[in-house]
Amino acid sequence: MPDAIPNIDDLQISFQQVDVDLDVQEILLAASQHDIPKLRRLVRTQSALPDAANVKDPETGYSPLHAAIAACEPETEEEETRVNGANGATNGSAAGDDSAEIVQSGVETVKFLLQEGAIWNDLDNNDETPGCLARRIGVHQLYELIVDAGVRAELLLNRLDGYEELSDGEDEDDDQQEEEEEQKETEAQEGDGTAPELVEATVETATQAPTTAETSNPSVTNPRYLDSHLNINNERILDSDQNGVMMSWESEIMRKSAAALLPRPGLKVLNIGHGMGIVDAFLQDHSPASHHIVEAHSDVVAAMKQKGWDSKPGVVIHEGRWQDILPELVMQGETFDAIYYDTFAESYGDFREFFSEQVIGLLEQDGKWGFFNGMGADRQISYDVYQKVVEMDLFEAGFEVDWEEIPVPKLEGEWEGVRRAYWVVENYRLPLCRFMD
Ligand SMILES: C[S@@+](CC[C@H](N)C(=O)[O-])C[C@H]1O[C@@H](n2cnc3c(N)ncnc32)[C@H](O)[C@@H]1O
Repeated sequence: MPDAIPNIDDLQISFQQVDVDLDVQEILLAASQHDIPKLRRLVRTQSALPDAANVKDPETGYSPLHAAIAACEPETEEEETRVNGANGATNGSAAGDDSAEIVQSGVETVKFLLQEGAIWNDLDNNDETPGCLARRIGVHQLYELIVDAGVRAELLLNRLDGYEELSDGEDEDDDQQEEEEEQKETEAQEGDGTAPELVEATVETATQAPTTAETSNPSVTNPRYLDSHLNINNERILDSDQNGVMMSWESEIMRKSAAALLPRPGLKVLNIGHGMGIVDAFLQDHSPASHHIVEAHSDVVAAMKQKGWDSKPGVVIHEGRWQDILPELVMQGETFDAIYYDTFAESYGDFREFFSEQVIGLLEQDGKWGFFNGMGADRQISYDVYQKVVEMDLFEAGFEVDWEEIPVPKLEGEWEGVRRAYWVVENYRLPLCRFMD
């Protein structure tokens, strides 16, 4: 049939496609064999592919990082113990230990690929990032390498965010040039120019793991949320897009946070974000001398008044966004022994602004503060990356932090009617922050 005979242009296109497919397979094979000299040749010079460190196997969705890590999978449990040692450290001393050698060459290969711009959180067809894969097969050394790469990428992106905010129009040409250079470096790690914001709302590419906490909807900005109508009941608060704003399963976390913040009666406490009033009720159990609450959503304010929060002794309600209220409190010279922060639809940049610019003016010298630690909680590697990122930023702002691990109960039935399960990880890490000595 004449239709079945390809013309010369079609043939050329399919030959080119075959070349590309062969290049992809060659790179993935070299990655899985931990053959760094060959990878270097393919990635840097030989391959015609524009982003050779991030090619994908069409069947598995594996990137070279996935391939290099998958090749380290221990075949038996016994082997896994030898690879990781009893306490998770690689034990290279076991006699005739081929597996430890494989992990070592895997480590070198992963390092090489990251240097070449491999994306740390690219997803395969099994919805796993290279780090998720390393964790599942139990090779801790590789997992930690990917976590560190994630931390570097996120720190850079967050710095970029801040840099853009600070730009005031002067020296704009220099600013733009520096921004472009930093952007290039970041793109090598993130795969595109979008900066994921890790607290609540985020922008992610479809093939990268979202590193967000409470909503997957990138259009959930704080102003949009504050304009939306809320569905509030005793079990949960949902916004008009069915995003979970607050859920009663978080009660144990709130109880422990309140107890850590108010170790004795008679202290002054400030809570940002009333939600279902769970943490505020627990704070009240510790008989504070004064209890200020900042709440921005009019539906939440109406609900809290209906429950009589405005007539509780010592309670002061501030209606509005913390961004507007807190500078006024600073001006009035208010200070607190304890501060808690748990908002919704805010970015990591907002959170960082909160602790680096507001807490400093409001917290007593020996005071403590905490926050709902939901950053990246929909994936263990994102949670681990963000613990390190926030620790570094807290340190830079002059705070030290202690973490307490709390097991989170199985939440399977909880997500019915909720747009997206924003909590997946097994343990909550409860932060307690104070000024550095
Ligand atoms: C997750 S809920 C807080 C839940 C609370 N910790 C509890 O125990 O029920 C977040 C709350 O922060 C409020 N909020 C969001 N953005 C805010 C902002 N910029 N300033 C003050 N409150 C805000 C939301 O309206 C919501 O009531």
